[in-house]
Amino acid sequence: MKDSIISVTDVKRTYKTETGYIKKKRRQVDALKGITFSVEKGEIFGLLGPNGAGKTTMIKILTTMLTPTSGKVSILGFNPVTEMNSLRPHINFILGGERNLYWRLSAYDNLAYFADLYKLPRHEQKQTIDDLLELVGLTDVAHQRVETFSKGMKQRLQIARGLVNNPEILFLDEPSIGLDPVSARKLREIIQHLNGKGTTILLTTHYMFEADELCDRIAFIDKGEIVDIDSPENIKQKTDNVSIIAFTVIGVNMEKLNELSRLPNVQHVQSSKQDYLTTIKLHTRSPQSIVPLIYDTMPGFVIQDLTITKPSLEDVYVQLIGGKVL
Ligand SMILES: Nc1ncnc2c1ncn2[C@@H]1O[C@H](COP(=O)(O)OP(=O)(O)O)[C@@H](O)[C@H]1O
Ligand SMILES: [Mg+2]
Repeated sequence: MKDSIISVTDVKRTYKTETGYIKKKRRQVDALKGITFSVEKGEIFGLLGPNGAGKTTMIKILTTMLTPTSGKVSILGFNPVTEMNSLRPHINFILGGERNLYWRLSAYDNLAYFADLYKLPRHEQKQTIDDLLELVGLTDVAHQRVETFSKGMKQRLQIARGLVNNPEILFLDEPSIGLDPVSARKLREIIQHLNGKGTTILLTTHYMFEADELCDRIAFIDKGEIVDIDSPENIKQKTDNVSIIAFTVIGVNMEKLNELSRLPNVQHVQSSKQDYLTTIKLHTRSPQSIVPLIYDTMPGFVIQDLTITKPSLEDVYVQLIGGKVL
């Protein structure tokens, strides 16, 4: 048994909502349907899944913001529901879309405010804040108001804010959402650097490449359930001898796609349409024998840009989550 510092067992969470004023309709959403996973000390662990999968719900439960409907959660040996006050000093979190920075204050004063909240001794504050601003590359603008910052700078300040109590575990919900590529890259470097210094990180993302680049292990989550948990390498290996045949055609219909999916040794067919052009991807272990069958199946169609490649993590994800798979 390795050193698990997060352990989640059969966690379920149901939201009950009411809609309508006159005739009230009750609606129940099973956001998490029995989630089990554990995270080891020092890992970067990713929850990867499409919108509505349950990622934010899971992260809110782990960070004491929400109670599970049932199941067991243990973080650093604490129960986040009954031992919230003991757990909170050891963790921190940055939830997406959160606006808990004070825009009228400078970066430095924001961090000083949160350092006070975490009861950081006054004589340690200056050094800690200077170090954090350095880490996230905001030293030069330390005394500028946050309202003058770009989105990327604000997000980096959020990271610094999430580190004022030197947490053992940092939770990040969609950390790079809405950032330009350069800012997102910088953010990933900071996350890697932090992890190098021993911080365990649990992050959610719906960006495949981000999970691939950062995470030691990924849990694919879809519709409140975990579909697979493994390292990015192992996940890719699972489809090691699978190839992807991709090509584009004009004006393909559902019937043809179904026909393609019934070809021997074709595991999956994905299709995506842009204007009148459809890109089709076939997952297969024997591409050479399939290619001629594609032409046989589609007489009269102009098949363009046919390529045979190894699956990317994104292809694996589509296969696992079943997004656009026929
Ligand atoms: N406060 C809420 N009340 C009702 N339903 C909710 C609430 N929060 C989330 N949900 C529903 O729970 C499901 C999971 O949502 P969420 O955890 O936000 O997913 P993700 O972060 O992966 O996009 C979705 O169907 C969402 O609509
Ligand atoms: Mg979310």
